[in-house]
Amino acid sequence: MKQLTTAEVRQTFLEFFKQKGHAILPSASLIPENDPTVLFTTAGMHPLVPYFLGERHPMGKRLASVQKCLRTVDIDNVGDNRHGTFFEMLGNWSLGDYFKEETIQWSYELLVGKEWFDIDPERLFVTVFKGDDDAPRDDESINIWQAQFAVHGIAAEVGEANEDEPAITSQGPRIYPYGKDNNWWGPAGQTGPCGPDTEIYYDTRRPHDSKYGPICHPACDCGRFIEIWNNVFMQYNKRDDGKFEPLAQRNVDTGMGLERMAAMLQGVPTIFDTDLNQKLIKVLKDVYNVAYGKDEDQDRSIRIIIDHIRAATFIIGDPRGVTPSNVGQGYIVRRLIRRAVREAKRLGITTLMSPTVAEAVIEEYQKTYPELEKNAEKILGELKKEEEKFAITIEQGLKKIKELVDEKRKHQSAIRLSERGQISGSAVGLNVISGKEAFDLYQTYGLPPEVIDEELAAYGDTFDKDEFEQELKKHQELSRTASAGAFKGGLADHSEETTKLHTATHLLHQALREVLGDHVAQKGSNITAERLRFDFVHPEKMTPEQIQSVEKIVNDVIARDLPVDCQEMTVQEAKADGAIGLFEDKYGAKVKVYTVHDTQSPKGFYSKEICGGPHVTHTGELRSFKIMKEEAVSSGVRRIKAVVAG
Ligand code: SER
Repeated sequence: MKQLTTAEVRQTFLEFFKQKGHAILPSASLIPENDPTVLFTTAGMHPLVPYFLGERHPMGKRLASVQKCLRTVDIDNVGDNRHGTFFEMLGNWSLGDYFKEETIQWSYELLVGKEWFDIDPERLFVTVFKGDDDAPRDDESINIWQAQFAVHGIAAEVGEANEDEPAITSQGPRIYPYGKDNNWWGPAGQTGPCGPDTEIYYDTRRPHDSKYGPICHPACDCGRFIEIWNNVFMQYNKRDDGKFEPLAQRNVDTGMGLERMAAMLQGVPTIFDTDLNQKLIKVLKDVYNVAYGKDEDQDRSIRIIIDHIRAATFIIGDPRGVTPSNVGQGYIVRRLIRRAVREAKRLGITTLMSPTVAEAVIEEYQKTYPELEKNAEKILGELKKEEEKFAITIEQGLKKIKELVDEKRKHQSAIRLSERGQISGSAVGLNVISGKEAFDLYQTYGLPPEVIDEELAAYGDTFDKDEFEQELKKHQELSRTASAGAFKGGLADHSEETTKLHTATHLLHQALREVLGDHVAQKGSNITAERLRFDFVHPEKMTPEQIQSVEKIVNDVIARDLPVDCQEMTVQEAKADGAIGLFEDKYGAKVKVYTVHDTQSPKGFYSKEICGGPHVTHTGELRSFKIMKEEAVSSGVRRIKAVVAG
């Protein structure tokens, strides 16, 4: 096995797929555009969704990337040694080009090839889809895997974990079939492209932990097996009636967690022990004198700080960056920063912490993600501001505890007086604060339960811990349901309505520039089947006359039924042609440019924008356009919500 640094793992992966004819895409933004189903990019495949559904990708049919991703579903559980919120996903894709044969062969070659990762093939185990009423067992993958392992004289039998086989041995089965819960990828309960997957696991050969069941198998949670790579075969389309039909364009979508792969190749037990993470942890050690590896609770706090400040740094520093607030992505950044600061307090760190850690994050990642250095000032400034704001909130929380204690005391002494001392002394002091009240303090002021407990103990009081736990569970379930909602149908909706709204967004953008001036630049866009939402730079509220003029321009363009088409060109050519759009994030060397042609305009077009699409072919399809709302988002940024009728 090769000892590679995290940076070398990234490079090796991309180099391998370049040699196999793949175009290398830069990481797309962490904040998805035009996809209301997700808050953040959660997998390398997300930015490619339109292309799985048939749009042509300007860089070709074989693509690979390292994508920055963020998963917040289990944000409250981060801190053990396996979970993180921010991670990088290495992936290769075939858009209707190669399929199972090539991708499985390449996975094997990259993992075990002497000049690549050079992993002992005896350590690799794979899982495949076992088949059900919707789709048959993935025998194709099984055969391909067996041919691969045979090169090294490994039999690779198909088998199931069973009671007679108490431990996995190299002589036992190597290919494990599982159901949809483990080996199927696609929008849960939704329609759209989906299919079986095959997952590759590395056997650490650590003893099985029987807490997780009597026998060990690759998908067992005991930690012996680490899932290192997932190959998804999008070969079905789930229809409205719940049936699975073969997909016209068969795609491959693979994902490998960079941090896990680095940990494995470095022979370290957790993702927090890699070269990169150790450098970040060292900053805490050096600046704040906290030790790692001595105390499990302390390690947990350090891991949370590293993970959360890294995530916040990437979100704020993204080309489409978001700052802390109380809604949407902004709320997630706020929670990440506050949770990290809380852990810092627990470690006894009393001075400003988050900008120091962020500086180290920027330093370590800037080569791969130059946007971090470019936005460094903003990142450090926002972190400082949020940490200071949070310190004030905590102060207020502590005051609130005192008020609650005083109030209850008064109430209780009133009861005591009225009952002429019938209540015993011990019942008076304890549990003056209910679990619900403590939970409200936690929610509103961010006070962790231990801090509430310590503070109350100083008054000789405590709170109802069971009730607190119940409230917490209730809340977690709610937020999980909410995130599940946000993740539902990771494949964005490309219905007719959204296509029209995409085009309407371009028409609106151009009309705003004509009415308000060229300073109008897109800050964000979000489209649902019902409406478009467009955020743009403009210093003041639009007047009713300006709104009317914009509507009129767009409706005229619709009435003239101008043709819309798409061309592929380099970013330089697009700029030279007068195209607008975000030039520096998700696009590779070649981009798609959508033009609304207008022979009456001196430029020859009404609008020209870099965009992934899809769009209508004629503006007339939009029928009519109406602005429903114009409001402020933040200082210097306005938001328009608009609809089309047709
Ligand atoms: N989409 C799959 C995953 O997220 C493979 O990239 O695991």
